[in-house]
Amino acid sequence: MVSPFLSPGLVSKEHDLASLHLRRDQSLPVVLSTEVTSAEHVGYAEGVVTNTRFGSFPHTTMIGVPWGSQIRASKVDTGSRGRKEAINAKKRKAEVLEQSQTNSQNGESVVAVEAASSGFVHLLPPTPENWTISLPHRTQVVYTPDYAYILHRIRARPGSRLIEAGSGSGSFTHAAARAVFNGYPTASDSGSEQQGTAAGDVESLGKVFSYEFHAERHKKVKAEMVEHGLDGVVHTMHRDVYADGLLVYKDESEEKTSPEANAIFLDLPAPWEALPHLTRDRRDGTPSALDPNSAVHICTFSPCIEQVQKTVSALRQHDWLDIEMVEVQHKRIEVRREYTGLAYEGMRGVNPYAVDVEEALAKLREVERRARDFHAGSLADRKPANGGQQHGGGKLPFDGGKLVHRTEPEIKTHTSYLVFAVLPRAWSEEDEAAAQAKWSKHVTVASNVPKSQRQLKKEAKLRAKNQRQAQNGVDNGNEAKEAIEEVMEEAAGSTKE
Ligand SMILES: C[S@@+](CC[C@H](N)C(=O)[O-])C[C@H]1O[C@@H](n2cnc3c(N)ncnc32)[C@H](O)[C@@H]1O
Repeated sequence: MVSPFLSPGLVSKEHDLASLHLRRDQSLPVVLSTEVTSAEHVGYAEGVVTNTRFGSFPHTTMIGVPWGSQIRASKVDTGSRGRKEAINAKKRKAEVLEQSQTNSQNGESVVAVEAASSGFVHLLPPTPENWTISLPHRTQVVYTPDYAYILHRIRARPGSRLIEAGSGSGSFTHAAARAVFNGYPTASDSGSEQQGTAAGDVESLGKVFSYEFHAERHKKVKAEMVEHGLDGVVHTMHRDVYADGLLVYKDESEEKTSPEANAIFLDLPAPWEALPHLTRDRRDGTPSALDPNSAVHICTFSPCIEQVQKTVSALRQHDWLDIEMVEVQHKRIEVRREYTGLAYEGMRGVNPYAVDVEEALAKLREVERRARDFHAGSLADRKPANGGQQHGGGKLPFDGGKLVHRTEPEIKTHTSYLVFAVLPRAWSEEDEAAAQAKWSKHVTVASNVPKSQRQLKKEAKLRAKNQRQAQNGVDNGNEAKEAIEEVMEEAAGSTKE
């Protein structure tokens, strides 16, 4: 199956997973279908319908349209849903479902839809980004600002072999799958690929090895990978990685093979407990989980600094280099026009203060006049403070107001400390000999190049200085003076050259 996350095509099709974009940060994943398969959809004369706060959307209006289309809400006849069957509701539901399935297979009962007077959504293809904001949360998840940076730093790219632990709700898994995707394995490839061997063409196909020790979460993420057509790219495993490591095998009886990973992401409570399994030399004779032919880039994701300290310490013990901690502070800026002035009084979002001294004085005069009129017993003929001017019949003027910005207080990102490190590629005696043989012939050491006047002078000075020091009669003042002279001469020399 071609994954809609990787190649959605131009137009939506039946059975595609789509993302209904309701508003910023709110989308709803739906599988487009004309077949009634669940009791939830039973009873609509329009077939399968998704109801949102912006109206009802029969799936027939969303199938066969270009991705990105705006879909108008429809007037939906609730049909038999209006009737309440009190007795034996469960049995009734099953019967109605069966009937609806037969009807929809026969093309019966689906009526032409009529657009509602308002309401719309946008139909988007599924992406890791919109999946992250709409997925069923089973755990805390990694959000887009973090995983975008993480995948970039661990150099996940088409063809990479990436270890992820734990899988959690599969948010990072989808983004990782897209980053490493480099083609689907063929039927013959997939056998060896599932075992984690990197042979022949399969070597260039990217792969995510995703480990999870919570049985239910593992089952869900595995099923999701199949539903989303990502099971050829993501190999999910039910495993406690602290105890049992990161090699690829189904059960203890099976041979353990290496995932040959070159990128690693650990979103675990104790990443330092998984690190002993991520070394190049295995004392127990099992293969290393790492790619022997390339450097390995790792990232760990921990909310507490104490976890970071333990992780950094374990990384050092296991020879990881370039250890660095980063925190992604994602902020979103709200930019809007701020209206101030008594003229806009009563309108939403307006600061009802005088915009300048003139307006303040006018208001004051108006108040005083009203007070005088009141005491004189007449409130007739009064005029508003701005001399009777109204702004667009209650509408704010376009492009008016002062442009202001502020940081949005609520952002959907679970910030954690990201620890990055690199483990250089394995380097054996043979590698060293091969490198010498390859590169030494390109390196020539020139021994007879004549020295410059400046170099000769410098060497003579140095010799003289050493002699003086050897005689032990050096006076410190002289020495400092000479050092200064030497530096100045050198500076003059380099300007001339
Ligand atoms: C915060 S969640 C991961 C969320 C995930 N990165 C995402 O974006 O959806 C951490 C997961 O690690 C799993 N986990 C904890 N200890 C583990 C272990 N020893 N081996 C494998 N998985 C483990 C937990 O069950 C949990 O599902």
